[in-house]
Amino acid sequence: MQKLEMLYEGKAKKVYRTDNPECFWVEFKDNATAFNGAKRGTIDHKGVLNNRISAYFFRLLAEKGVSSHFVSLKGDRDMVVKALKIIMLEVVVRNIAAGSLAKRIGFPEGTLLEKPVVEFYYKNDALNDPLVNDDHIKVLKLATTEQLAQMHQTALQVNRILLEHLAGKEIDLIDFKLEFGLHNGKLLLGDEISPDTCRFWDKKTGEKLDKDRFRRDMGNVEEAYREIYRRLTGKNFEE
Ligand code: TMP
Ligand code: ASP
Repeated sequence: MQKLEMLYEGKAKKVYRTDNPECFWVEFKDNATAFNGAKRGTIDHKGVLNNRISAYFFRLLAEKGVSSHFVSLKGDRDMVVKALKIIMLEVVVRNIAAGSLAKRIGFPEGTLLEKPVVEFYYKNDALNDPLVNDDHIKVLKLATTEQLAQMHQTALQVNRILLEHLAGKEIDLIDFKLEFGLHNGKLLLGDEISPDTCRFWDKKTGEKLDKDRFRRDMGNVEEAYREIYRRLTGKNFEE
């Protein structure tokens, strides 16, 4: 398969057309941003690590019956995916209060939630990705009732699979963000699943092993991503 012209450049990835109209080619960058691009930096080897970590999670989910856009890895920082028409929503699942939820409802970070909380955010940089409810999604025509129900259900299923898998790796899954898209009318999981898009805490110490180390200037950011890779695969990341 050939990587052709770039279709889109996002904050953390570039998307290319390929010679197969059914597939896109995604390149993961080392660039990191936070707070809607207000904070910018680079995390060495992040592109390679997130490419491999995302592939690991998409393969795990496929084994458990959750379909994603992932097709195959290509080299270090690239993957081939099914061409999706992205639904302009970010679907967040939370098990423990942290980040914006801790602020919004006033729970101290680390508070166990009685049940997983699913939230939808409108992917719109100009509006700063606002939280939206089912009615907002309906009037904005972002998704149909059926698609919304399917995203909600799949997000909870992904949560159950990841929670159980990560518990075996001594990692607490605090929260994560998913994106979905349509491929020939079928709803598939898209984007990435990585320390950029999840909160991972060490089960014993509570140490943060994700992008919060970058957002909050905590240091040892690359080391945290490498540690997640090591715990998942049992291998040290090597260049
Ligand atoms: P939040 O607490 O900042 O709303 O983040 C919830 C989860 O979503 C967290 O795991 C990080 C992830 N996330 C993204 O993947 N992209 C984003 O732009 C934001 C704000 C959060
Ligand atoms: N990816 C987001 C951004 O720059 C924010 C985040 O992950 O915190 O804008």
